[in-house]
Amino acid sequence: MPKEILKFPVNFLWGAAGSAYQTEGGNTNTDWWAWEHSIKRMDELRARGKDPEDYFCGIACDFYNRYEEDFGLAQHLNHNCIRFGVEWSRIEPKEGFFDEAVLDHYEKMLQAAQARGLKVFLTLHHFTLPIWFRKKGGFERRENTEYFIRFVKKTAKRLEQYVDFWLTFNEPEVYSTYSYLLGVFPPQKKSIWKSWAIVDNLIYAHNKVAPILKIETGKPVSIAFHLSDLQPSGVLGGLARSLSHYFVNEYIIRRTINNCDYIGVNYYNHHHVGILGMRKNSHSKHEQTDLGWGIHPEGIERVLLNVKKYNKPIYITENGLADSKDNMREKYIKDHLFFVHRAIQQGADVRGYLYWSLIDNFEWQHGFWPKFGLIEIDREDLLRRKVRYSATKFAEICKNNRLEI
Ligand code: BGC
Repeated sequence: MPKEILKFPVNFLWGAAGSAYQTEGGNTNTDWWAWEHSIKRMDELRARGKDPEDYFCGIACDFYNRYEEDFGLAQHLNHNCIRFGVEWSRIEPKEGFFDEAVLDHYEKMLQAAQARGLKVFLTLHHFTLPIWFRKKGGFERRENTEYFIRFVKKTAKRLEQYVDFWLTFNEPEVYSTYSYLLGVFPPQKKSIWKSWAIVDNLIYAHNKVAPILKIETGKPVSIAFHLSDLQPSGVLGGLARSLSHYFVNEYIIRRTINNCDYIGVNYYNHHHVGILGMRKNSHSKHEQTDLGWGIHPEGIERVLLNVKKYNKPIYITENGLADSKDNMREKYIKDHLFFVHRAIQQGADVRGYLYWSLIDNFEWQHGFWPKFGLIEIDREDLLRRKVRYSATKFAEICKNNRLEI
């Protein structure tokens, strides 16, 4: 069979993503760290027969110190961009005290990325909060958004020259659902009203801070939106799907789009929606990731075509899977890119693809066992980095700016 060659647009960005808390290590001033070490959380884990130690983020990947090595690997793998974050609780460990040494450190990190030819997407909030901010009620209170805005202004002023793209928030809807509706993330609340208030306050904070970021730094700003492919199922499935689609895929984006210069898309999920709720599509074992998530590459095309109507550049800020044996990753990436390419051909202005994640990292409530990385972190051998085979296959795509199928 002759090969089909799918070319990507000139200057397309290729890379991988991560977040501060999941990779840096030692973020002791966050609400997550406090929660992991709380008696309640540890008792819950013990009751499930688990060892709490396996669920401590601890040193994570020590990315805070080993960033040079990781950027070097990304460069070696032909990436031309990277996404990572800054940890608010490090920069402002106490209310109103900004640690200049930490800002210096982030400056060095950003310089190192730039020196490796990596354009940077910098995330300002990715699920974690400083403990002092949590004690004030976090984003539950509208007036607290002022603290976030102050932190962003200070950080941006210092780091702006090395940042190419800002992301104010990572997945506001996931944050509010997991922390305030399902009670999975700290502060483990289960209140529909609180979760609604959080979404509203994050939208408010984004709309206030994005124009400031834009004016003061001149760099494009967005949110990493968690967008899912929803398909109708059963009687009244169409109605149920439309309603869910509005709340899952439209509500936040519509209310922030005027303050987004581009659209950050995180794509992982495809669900069937009926009047009885949402369910994962049924799939045979081999179509599941290690976390049991179904693999539906075709959904990314629908998601991209849905956001095409906003007429903004689109960057895929996350797409990936947990695959410890590395026997699905290459196909997963290629299949998704096939559908990304189809969306581009139909007019979606997609300008970059960042795989989640560059290195195996702390997968929140699951601990370290899910392995998302292009690069393995050997936790038995001093966090040694080992490039996975799939990473070398992705590197070929990045280098040639094309996919061969
Ligand atoms: C989050 C990441 C997370 C990934 C895999 C995304 O929704 O932004 O922090 O690790 O999903 O679960």
